[in-house]
Amino acid sequence: MSKPAIGVGLIGSGFMGRSHSLAYLNVDKLFELPFRVELRMLADQTEAQASRAADAFGFARATGDWRELVADSRIEVVSITTPNRLHKDMALAAIDAGKHVWCEKPLAPTLADARIMAEAARHRGVRTAVGFNYLKNPMMRLARDMIAGGEIGEVRTFRGIHAEDFMADVSQPWSWRLDPANGGGALVDIGSHIIAAARYLLGPIVEVDGRTDTLVTSRPIAAGAAERRTVAVDDVTTARLRFRSGVVGTIEANWLATGRTMQHAFEIAGSAGSIAFSQERFNELQLYCAGDEAARRGFRTIVAGPEHEPYGAFCVAPGHQIGFNDLKAIEARDFLLSIADDAPRHAGLGHAGLGHAGFDEGVAVLEVVDAIYRSARDGGQPVAIGVSAQ
Ligand SMILES: NC(=O)c1ccc[n+]([C@@H]2O[C@H](COP(=O)([O-])OP(=O)(O)OC[C@H]3O[C@@H](n4cnc5c(N)ncnc54)[C@H](O)[C@@H]3O)[C@@H](O)[C@H]2O)c1
Repeated sequence: MSKPAIGVGLIGSGFMGRSHSLAYLNVDKLFELPFRVELRMLADQTEAQASRAADAFGFARATGDWRELVADSRIEVVSITTPNRLHKDMALAAIDAGKHVWCEKPLAPTLADARIMAEAARHRGVRTAVGFNYLKNPMMRLARDMIAGGEIGEVRTFRGIHAEDFMADVSQPWSWRLDPANGGGALVDIGSHIIAAARYLLGPIVEVDGRTDTLVTSRPIAAGAAERRTVAVDDVTTARLRFRSGVVGTIEANWLATGRTMQHAFEIAGSAGSIAFSQERFNELQLYCAGDEAARRGFRTIVAGPEHEPYGAFCVAPGHQIGFNDLKAIEARDFLLSIADDAPRHAGLGHAGLGHAGFDEGVAVLEVVDAIYRSARDGGQPVAIGVSAQ
């Protein structure tokens, strides 16, 4: 007997809209799900833009008005892949209509808005996901299991970075990412990923201090334009972290890191060993064991394979590597499974065995982001993080 269908609506068809579409197209072929996924409607800013994308990605219908999509009774799941400042209104409308919502990170430009969104989802009883795709990497799960299993002993330090270079060219024009209405610059945009990773691997962060810097202080208003617009958001942010466990650490968010395309990376040092990782080689995990014979000590490379679930859903052979859009397919699986069963996988870190981040986790990450920005405004004073991030 054929499985029942679940209807998907997608708002926004840029970088992430494409990625969500590919995930939905593949997820019910890669994984055992209790339903078939049907791509029912795509919304973008104009009808023409939406139609083009709907044709390309395989959606049945298109609209230039996202409210039409949210109101459609045949849509049960809504993906939001628009600029940050639009997430709240779109998510609240979708939640109000009883849809499950997968929203890109950061959940909202402000912590207050993110809390409203998480509360609305909880109240309405819908499932949620927030786009921290890097948590879906089987090697992240391995790292987490190794830490939890004591393989590197008592963990002491975390050194994390999320660095890219897509803003390094000073002629790179103004875009929505530079508009303070989206919540900030490099820290909220890309730094939120390394904060999510830190929390996933080592648990709650209870205190931070931070420093923000804007180094490219103006950008052309459009490609090739002589007129420039002042940049008021951070290009580079550094912060110190203290985890509830006692681990201390640092993070850097940097979108001016010439030559770095995806340095979502960390090193975690414990009393018996260390783990090192970079998303630029994300099918690998580096492990150092202090207990190795002195003449053989050094970081060894563990290569991803079918034994690292769910790599095997994509490829039966080790070392052949999975890709970025595969992480998005795993994210789609976990989101859809949270709809299919009653397990509270939409919640926060407590259910992160799967690395599934729901709106509560989106709030918790923004608590850290908000505290770092507040510290930076206050000359780098330490800021304690409240109980809801626990
Ligand atoms: N998880 C990740 O790794 C990752 C990577 C990149 C971006 N993001 C996040 O995804 C979101 C989108 O980023 P992007 O890089 O895909 O941006 P983008 O600019 O490539 O795409 C944004 C899309 O939203 C559409 N849009 C804008 N206003 C709209 C409206 N009023 N109604 C309907 N559609 C509208 C645009 O036309 C475009 O199709 C952001 O929140 C960003 O932070 C996440």
